[in-house]
Amino acid sequence: MRKHIVAGNWKMNNGLSQTQSLITDLKNQTKSSDAEVMIAPSFTNLWSAFESLRKSDIEVIAQNMHFAEDGAYTGEVSAGMLKSVGVKTVILGHSERREYFNETDELLAKKVDAALAKGMRVIFCFGEELADRKAGNEENIVGNQIKNALFHLEATAFKDIVLAYEPVWAIGTGETATPEQAQDMHAFIRKTLANKYGADVADSVSILYGGSVKPANAEEIFSKPDVDGGLIGGASLKAEDFFAIVNAF
Ligand code: G3P
Repeated sequence: MRKHIVAGNWKMNNGLSQTQSLITDLKNQTKSSDAEVMIAPSFTNLWSAFESLRKSDIEVIAQNMHFAEDGAYTGEVSAGMLKSVGVKTVILGHSERREYFNETDELLAKKVDAALAKGMRVIFCFGEELADRKAGNEENIVGNQIKNALFHLEATAFKDIVLAYEPVWAIGTGETATPEQAQDMHAFIRKTLANKYGADVADSVSILYGGSVKPANAEEIFSKPDVDGGLIGGASLKAEDFFAIVNAF
């Protein structure tokens, strides 16, 4: 049975006091679904968030990491450092990192390997640009992103991989993919996995949708058979909205 997961990607938002205030609000919410709940604060807030949520069922995760164990990489953070502050899951391949920091499929493959080598779970992001979709090329783009960064892995590695389909044209725009568009792409992703690794692996991997998920649209999107949850940006910054999405299953 695949896990339902709702993860909040806080992106570059919230200093320490705002983080603590939002965490207090999150702790006051009630979870009424079977979803695993995660939040991804910025690096500077990971330890305080981990400490504050240590006794809760909200997992604190990271938004990124470097592929090296340690060394002369100014400004970077390694998997070992993340684990040292209690973080066991990391988001990799977000479109904003691909766009603004030129993260390629090849670099992301190295980051995925480094995270798995440290026993971490990876939420691997991918998605097409609007021009790709208008050209009817979305499946080629997404298929290549997944193959180039993940298909060197052994089947067993996928127990620690969560996939997150985030059409770039839906991120932060309010232009949510329709539930049918999300389902079609998730079904394609699952078929791509099955062709490479077999149906058992494909059926075990949680595939999240991200891109303008809101309390008003979450239930219909999550009702689709190949949608196993969401990676939430803007709506994760308000505790009530975020838990309305968590409880949308
Ligand atoms: O990683 C999730 C994010 O990219 C989606 O952002 O604001 O469209 O929910 P948003």
